[in-house]
Amino acid sequence: MSTPTNNKRGFWATRMGFILAASGSAIGLGNVWKFPYVTGQNGGGAFVLLYLVCIFAIGLPIMLAEFTLGRRTNLNPVGAFAAIKPGSPWVGIGFMGVSAGFLILSFYAVVGGWTVAYVVKSVTHSVLDFSSPEQAGQFFGQFISHTWEVLIYHAIFMALCVAIVIKGVHGGIERACDIMMPTLFVILLVLMARSLTLPGAMEGVKFYLYPDFSKIQPQTVLIALGQAFFSLSLGMGAMLTYGSYLSPKENLTAATVYVVLFDTLIALLMGMVIFPAVFSMGLAPTEGPSLVFSVLPTVFSSMPMGTLVSIIFFILLTIAALTSAISLLEVVVAYFIDQRGWDRKRAVLTMAGVIYLLGVPSALSFGVLGDVKFMGMTFFDTVDNIASNYLLPLGGMLTAVFVGWIWGTRAAKEEIEKHETRFHWADQWAFLIRFIAPVAVAGVFLARFF
Ligand code: PFF
Repeated sequence: MSTPTNNKRGFWATRMGFILAASGSAIGLGNVWKFPYVTGQNGGGAFVLLYLVCIFAIGLPIMLAEFTLGRRTNLNPVGAFAAIKPGSPWVGIGFMGVSAGFLILSFYAVVGGWTVAYVVKSVTHSVLDFSSPEQAGQFFGQFISHTWEVLIYHAIFMALCVAIVIKGVHGGIERACDIMMPTLFVILLVLMARSLTLPGAMEGVKFYLYPDFSKIQPQTVLIALGQAFFSLSLGMGAMLTYGSYLSPKENLTAATVYVVLFDTLIALLMGMVIFPAVFSMGLAPTEGPSLVFSVLPTVFSSMPMGTLVSIIFFILLTIAALTSAISLLEVVVAYFIDQRGWDRKRAVLTMAGVIYLLGVPSALSFGVLGDVKFMGMTFFDTVDNIASNYLLPLGGMLTAVFVGWIWGTRAAKEEIEKHETRFHWADQWAFLIRFIAPVAVAGVFLARFF
């Protein structure tokens, strides 16, 4: 990843390094912050079920397709489609991906800034002084409405991203992921144990696991699909770009399965942390983006060594957010380096600057720009909605059509089977990628209009 211009491919030092980096891209705010609040807003158990179907029937096959395209072409998303079908409009998928990277990072970095702030505020103990989530929620609400404070943390998060991507993600990130992933997992288990033993926790478990299908509407399916794409980093070429730094010896199918399983496990676990606590504290699960930030500090403040747990948790969340954010920035940067001939430094600094500015109205959506609404949504929600619920599924669907019908599953299979790797479920995959994924995504889109 360090220098895509000279494309010294096979960048990932080890097989585990690649799996962890791709998992690092997948596991982030989408799992820990977004999944619980989206599940809460969309009815709980039934949504979780829909989400899982989207992950395994649509997300998993598309992830394999992205890895394969990337490794085959060793290029950024725009270059990759152009290399396989030169001079065709398919290159548009790549442009859409780069644009989605822009949009997503613009608001993602805002939330990344909140997590950095919560590390600092855990150290100073100011987030842990509350015994009720309402108070913690109020504190959070005040914090995110504070113009300068939010913009400064937003800038700090963006600067961290720049520092990593400018040098390439060598060693540092690969090694950080090695330690971070298992620690995050352990801490989530500890938090889950704490949550489940709170009084009234079972109500939350019921809401989370018991599917009530009356809560499903066409819009719900679209949101589940969007969340699946968002969580797996699919539909905008991030996984394609990561795949482009792979050696042909890699077993792509195994890597795909690991990344999907890790990502899903973390999201599901997070739900088991949040919902028991939400119900135990008498909160509404529909609270939205502030859910995690108001519930968790209250849980921390009532547990032994809560301050320490809070500090560690928010540090891990910041790192998880960073490992995702760098993959977003890398897509944009790789495009400017490969296709426009920019050097890495110029690409990273310019694009991070532009993305930061684009993020400013999102950052202020909870404060001074709170009343500026587009179709009832704040700027922040609008950007998130356009990117996650439209651009990603559309990009994923077109990628599936491209691999399934234009490049062809046979050619893809050849790439996957390089170096004597056996692809045992090739037929099932071909079926999913040619028929199920495109039809399902198209169906979900169309259903919105009826
Ligand atoms: N998958 C990341 C998360 O769940 O937080 C977000 C993300 C990263 C989305 C990279 C898309 C992407 F290309």
